[in-house]
Amino acid sequence: MLGKIKNYKREGNKFLFNFENGEGILEIISSKIINVFVPIKYKEHNSKSIENINLKDTNVIEKRFEDKVEIETDDVIAVVYDNFKVDFYDKQRNPLCLEYDGERNPFIRRGNVSIAEGEGISTQADFKHHKIEVIKKMFGDEYFYGFGEKTGHLNKKGYYYEMWNTDDPKPHVENYTTLYKSIPFFMTLRQKTAYGIFFDNTFKSYFDMGKENSEYYYFGADNGNLDYYFIYGPSAIEVIEGYTYLTGRTPLPQMWTLGYQQCRWSYTPESRVMEIAQNFRKRDIPCDVIYLDIDYMDGYRVFTWDREKFKNPNEFTEKLKEQGFKVVTIIDPGVKKDKGYYIYDEGIENGYFATDKDGIPYVNEVWPGDSLYPDFSDEKVRKWWSEKQKVMVDSGVAGIWNDMNEPASFRGPLPDDVQFKNDGFPTDHTEIHNVYGHLMSKATYEGIKRYTGKRPFVITRACFAGTQKYSTVWTGDNHSFFEHLRMAVPMLLNLGLSGFAFCGTDVGGFQFDCTPELLSRWVQVGCFTPLFRNHSCIHTRDQEPWAFDEKTEEINRKYIKLRYKMLPYLYDLFYEAENTGLPIMRPLFIHYMDDEKTYELNDEFLWGENMLVAPILEQGKTFRGVYLPKGSWYDYFTGEKIEGGRVILKDAPIDICPIYIKEGSIIPTFNEMSYVGQNRFDELVLEVYRGNGTYVHYEDDKESFNYKEGEYNLYKIEQVVEDGKIIINFSIQHKEYNDGYKKIKVKLKNSLVKSVYADGKEIEFIQEGNDTVVEMNVEDKQFIFLI
Ligand code: GLC
Repeated sequence: MLGKIKNYKREGNKFLFNFENGEGILEIISSKIINVFVPIKYKEHNSKSIENINLKDTNVIEKRFEDKVEIETDDVIAVVYDNFKVDFYDKQRNPLCLEYDGERNPFIRRGNVSIAEGEGISTQADFKHHKIEVIKKMFGDEYFYGFGEKTGHLNKKGYYYEMWNTDDPKPHVENYTTLYKSIPFFMTLRQKTAYGIFFDNTFKSYFDMGKENSEYYYFGADNGNLDYYFIYGPSAIEVIEGYTYLTGRTPLPQMWTLGYQQCRWSYTPESRVMEIAQNFRKRDIPCDVIYLDIDYMDGYRVFTWDREKFKNPNEFTEKLKEQGFKVVTIIDPGVKKDKGYYIYDEGIENGYFATDKDGIPYVNEVWPGDSLYPDFSDEKVRKWWSEKQKVMVDSGVAGIWNDMNEPASFRGPLPDDVQFKNDGFPTDHTEIHNVYGHLMSKATYEGIKRYTGKRPFVITRACFAGTQKYSTVWTGDNHSFFEHLRMAVPMLLNLGLSGFAFCGTDVGGFQFDCTPELLSRWVQVGCFTPLFRNHSCIHTRDQEPWAFDEKTEEINRKYIKLRYKMLPYLYDLFYEAENTGLPIMRPLFIHYMDDEKTYELNDEFLWGENMLVAPILEQGKTFRGVYLPKGSWYDYFTGEKIEGGRVILKDAPIDICPIYIKEGSIIPTFNEMSYVGQNRFDELVLEVYRGNGTYVHYEDDKESFNYKEGEYNLYKIEQVVEDGKIIINFSIQHKEYNDGYKKIKVKLKNSLVKSVYADGKEIEFIQEGNDTVVEMNVEDKQFIFLI
């Protein structure tokens, strides 16, 4: 306990408190973000997640009372008490987040558990205090979200989780407290007000969200500093903006990475890869990426090729390139212990591997057998690893898949005392474990950026808060279970709320044998997951779109084509993600915080603000209830206009995924293609759903960093509905990308019109079913549709 406040002083935005038994710092990052810091292990922050912190101006007023100090920004009031207890209020003095003034008092687990363990029954951890522990009051009407990749439901209230990156291939179910990723961030929603807490601590950490006692929730860690950020909303969107302001945002990816991706453990040899590629083209199923899993390597030695299976890697990747395919290869961290193998030799010579406490390189087992673990916490090692990416880039590889980086180990976990250099602050595995994958991804990202000059595509299994700056993620080894399809929705939604805009699951499921129905339903979800990759395990039955029957293939084709049609809309969402941190797949509540019915929807989501997706997640089901929030919605497939603010019953036979478009939406779409870059992007089709609304569309070269220098276009489109007419106003807000669209079509959905005027002149229009289509020049300013 820190004891009573003796005194405090202000230094700029920092308040340095002197307590009887130590110091504590409260730092104002912005009017809405406040850091609470107690230097316990390190004198300074030692964040792996936050790279630059830019303080934002705010007025700060401080008031000293006998027993507390009040610090008021433009948006929140923080009240600091003895023992560095801190309460947060809004400006009207409504409590937001208060300390719990009592001791932990958990429920009792009765009985001697060893008898149950005899049968193999899994039991829960007993009550334990943590070295670092912060206990907050529960009012009872909270909803909790976030925590990155966790099993279970959207709302985490009443559950307990741990942060310790874990590779456990058994079926992921609700009693799992850990998985591959550690994102110690959550958001609380209460009384239509949201705040977030980011606990910036890489040691094993613990979050009990009112499970052990409904009077409080707590977060804690085994070691490190007490270091957390309070992030005020009041909207959920502002909390996500605040959190990603700190830890970084998903950068705009190359557009091809948003296409369909096909993976399998493993497509080898070369002829099998070619066969897969040809099938996609022959069957008219768009696809951009084929992955090579571990068997492309020479004896699982990273940064090598098996020359028997892939005679000439460059020719091989070139051949695929000609057909419009990119190749992404897996790279695991484990380096085979093998004298004469260049990566091993270089690592040993330079001391690049993690060691035991006596400084001897630590050995465990992964795919190659005895393997060593590069110490990515050392700048020199990250540089080395990033330079090694050149080997892959030079072979024509377009992206890198980082796996097994929890790190995984087949001969038991890495002991706590495995040593890491930690950029000048030597430490052990307990501190580096959770950021091992994060640091590996960072090194990979930097290497790919350097050697391709393009926006890197990295996909990682393990990560930490902030990895979103470098890498997309997938949710590891799920199973071909309907249960896992169902779980994918809340899991991805919470990952999105936790900064990971670019995420996905193995479509079809990784382990176990997929069924035609499951693949059909999974591709309907995959079509809307930011990362759209079908992947399956060695020895499971084939799972490519055509692996079952014609009907399943047709459903795959339909949704994969829909994905390509929607690419410009999806790309806009990514542009938004880079600028605001907002996810692509969104729980409804972030746009409908006034509507409590949206707080616990586990089986439907928004795709951006304009589209609502309500997939079928159960076997045999061909209809479902869909909650449509207030406003009017259009059924994407039938065009029917439906009033929201209620649950509707929707028929959804096997080829239908219920999709709704919000009235007033303007959805930019592309014409058909087999892969990104097959044709020039000369034509954009704007699908306009009747209603008042505005939309901004983003366009650039889809691959380079030139957009950072301003080489992009922003088109603003406004729809105004008046009596008897629909007016579309078009303006270009930014135009520095010169290779933009040559032609834009406006498709007025579900509307037959009498005549159309472009900038005052009557023009031709085409009737396509119930839609009206006009062509415009990019310079046109206004369309008037008379209806
Ligand atoms: C791990 C990965 C999986 C991959 C396999 C072989 O299980 O999670 O995606 O296919 O290793 O590399």
